[in-house]
Amino acid sequence: FDSNSINKYPFPSEQIPRLSVADPETYRLIKESKPVIITDTNLVGSAAKWDLNYLHENLGKGLFYVYTSNTNKFKYYNSNRAEQCKSFVNPTERHHVTFPQFLQMLKRCSCTDEKVYLQQILNDTVGTNIVDDFLQFNWDWVNKCKAAFGWGQLSSNLLLIGLEGNITPVHYDEQENFFAQISGYKRCILFSPDQFDCLYPHPVAHPCDRQSQVDLSNPDYKRFPKFRNVRPTEAIVGPGDVLYIPMYWWHQIESLLSRGLPPVTVSVNFWYKGSALPDKIEYPLTPQQRVSVMRNVEKMLAAALDDPDKVGGLLRSIVEGRYTDHALS
Ligand code: FUM
Ligand code: FE
Repeated sequence: FDSNSINKYPFPSEQIPRLSVADPETYRLIKESKPVIITDTNLVGSAAKWDLNYLHENLGKGLFYVYTSNTNKFKYYNSNRAEQCKSFVNPTERHHVTFPQFLQMLKRCSCTDEKVYLQQILNDTVGTNIVDDFLQFNWDWVNKCKAAFGWGQLSSNLLLIGLEGNITPVHYDEQENFFAQISGYKRCILFSPDQFDCLYPHPVAHPCDRQSQVDLSNPDYKRFPKFRNVRPTEAIVGPGDVLYIPMYWWHQIESLLSRGLPPVTVSVNFWYKGSALPDKIEYPLTPQQRVSVMRNVEKMLAAALDDPDKVGGLLRSIVEGRYTDHALS
């Protein structure tokens, strides 16, 4: 990748460790819900040949979700909620197209400022060669991990084909993720769940639930003063690397400029449901459990008031002058 293409940010960061599947430290980190890059899993080795030509020939005749953006940012939004929310302006446009149509869109990008990003859950419309490659993923290793860490079911595998420069802005997911890089390089910037207060997510009922309101490259410190305190951990993943993104960890993912052609990055996500609640809750709660409690309170209020716009006012009535100025004693 082209190191001149690495964005500069106004915060210091640590490096995510890069370890082997054979290193016990790898499993200690995952068990503790800490990010780690595992360099030699062979998780998606059978997909190393998934370049645009091979995908074109083998992906089948199904339809793919492709997002377009007039900037390099692809902020996720819930399209059902976006339709209900009249003042909301979609940050990207979603298209449902065949793979050849996606290739056309990629071609057009080279002569406009528009960017494209294919993000499609792998399903049974793919051709037999892709099915074979999929069956040769290192299921043995991931299944062992799933069992060892007590995770729930594999919920989906998302295929991502992005253009260099594309950015998925900082957000968190409610599932465990093995993020497998197939081709090209991505910079992954992660923030632990205990930095919730620094990252100011949109309200839970907003179309951009789970997304930070802060633009990392141009933070508005007036609105988001605690963003000054963020301390991410980051790394660049390349072909063959698997990044463990723990549930509720914030992440921003940036496709780096590559000197190779075509200028695309290919990745596959392995999303697993989180582990079941322990029989006995221990205190203090973990930062993850705390985020989950906050989400549930917000959801309950939005449902009880039947209007997401009224949640803030009610929360203010509870808090201001009551929980703001003094401790309970
Ligand atoms: O752009 C990306 O690769 C994003 C992945 C994710 O958010 O899990
Ligand atoms: Fe994500």
